Amino acid sequence: MAIKLKKQVIEILKILKEKKEKVIAEDLAQELNIDYIVLMSAVNDLIEYNLGGFKEKEINKISLNVEGQGYLRNGLPERQLLQLLLKNEIKEISIEDFLKRSKLNKNIFYIGLSNMKKNRWIAQSKATGDNRIYLITEDYSETKLEKLLNLFKGNKFLDYYSFSKEDLEHVEILNKRKLIIKSKKIERLIFLTEKGKKLQLSKIQELKQVSKITSKMLINGSWDNFDLKAFDITKPGPLLKAGKFHPVIALINEIREIFLSMGFTEIRGPIVESAFFNFDALFQPQDHPAREMQDTFYLNNPKVARLPEKDRVLAVKETHENGGDSNSIGWGYEWDEDIAKRTVLRTHTTATTIRRLAQFYKNNENVPVKVFCIDRVFRNEKVDKSHLAEFMQVEGIVIDDHVNLGDLIGLLSEFYRKMGFKKIITRPGFFPYTEPSMEVSVYYDKLGEWLEMGGSGIFRPEVTYPFGIKEPTRVLAWGQGLERIAMLYYGREDIRDLYINPIKWLRQQAY
Ligand code: PHE
Repeated sequence: MAIKLKKQVIEILKILKEKKEKVIAEDLAQELNIDYIVLMSAVNDLIEYNLGGFKEKEINKISLNVEGQGYLRNGLPERQLLQLLLKNEIKEISIEDFLKRSKLNKNIFYIGLSNMKKNRWIAQSKATGDNRIYLITEDYSETKLEKLLNLFKGNKFLDYYSFSKEDLEHVEILNKRKLIIKSKKIERLIFLTEKGKKLQLSKIQELKQVSKITSKMLINGSWDNFDLKAFDITKPGPLLKAGKFHPVIALINEIREIFLSMGFTEIRGPIVESAFFNFDALFQPQDHPAREMQDTFYLNNPKVARLPEKDRVLAVKETHENGGDSNSIGWGYEWDEDIAKRTVLRTHTTATTIRRLAQFYKNNENVPVKVFCIDRVFRNEKVDKSHLAEFMQVEGIVIDDHVNLGDLIGLLSEFYRKMGFKKIITRPGFFPYTEPSMEVSVYYDKLGEWLEMGGSGIFRPEVTYPFGIKEPTRVLAWGQGLERIAMLYYGREDIRDLYINPIKWLRQQAY
């Protein structure tokens, strides 16, 4: 039966037959201009049919380092120094002078000098007071060391095992003078077996390569005559146009995972919110500009919201009017319950975290409470490339005893680090409901800039006391726009792109 081999394997077999001896795999690969791996896979095919094989041989090679190569070109320092003397017909010279004339580095000069003595070319004497050397022979023929060095003229590498015992001593001298590199290498020798040598090329059939086996090939049995082409799994596949998460949703899921991994629980709250939770509970006075119609969407239907328990509403009222029991003097105006009952589209998710905060005392909960909220908020804002009237916020609070600003900074650093921002800085900021307050900025590698991300702080006693949270229990709070992160994350410059949904961009996303 004929042997079926791939085209390339047949070619390699032919070459091995011509060479009639073992060949070094690397050399052959180079000669054929093919990849070493391709060659070895062909050799494997030969092995499979018992036509060929390979042997590994460890070889110890030595080569010259850069300094050694320099001496191969210009002579060892002792030779260079000798040449200087001969050329200038100098028979004796003070060492000081010699060094100056040699223009060699001091160390190398002395190495050369000591080898000149070893070679018995010179003698040294202090008889005249200064340190002088004298040429003492006329025989300056090539030394054994130089002979060895010169072996490198035609060969970059020399086989360590090819040296005689005497040569090896000189190899050791070169080694001590730090002029050579010893390296170990494994060489693969490829050869043909007796069967391979005897096999007539006419007995070999070329194995055709196909990328698919068809049902026809299976039925008529011809599949056995084909070799299956290997797939290149590093090539990009076709773009999948299957359903996937919207980039903003994918980001939300990622942020959610981060908070969950940090021990937080997710909360949600109503979009239609009372002014009470959106503003009053946050110690925002009723004449605060953020409450104006041009900033906030007020609703006509439903026009009023239900307020929480009477005593909490009263506590908030008193805090606004005179500070209540929060050690503050309040804003000093008459608080109006009807204004607090107005319904608004939540302008920030802080309305939702304050709702959660209100539960803590009511439910007699234990510290710590760690919650986060990723949700939609609304502001009566003109839409442009960096503003939307309807957007998302990422917000959280930690209720715990003795927590401080350091804990808050640590927490935010950890969150942003997990988001891929390695550096954050905080600056003093202002919010009516936190004291101290901080603005948080992250370092954005791509632009090499600090970008402001959001606000944070420790809720004021005027916020926590009306809901029964008192020292040493404190509430760390922070919030920021989600779209800001999304724009950085996906490299979009126009915030509207996130919701206009450019189809080409969406298709390119991995999720
Ligand atoms: N609510 C603030 C905003 O909308 C962010 C913030 C939340 C600031 C919590 C401090 C504490 O920008």
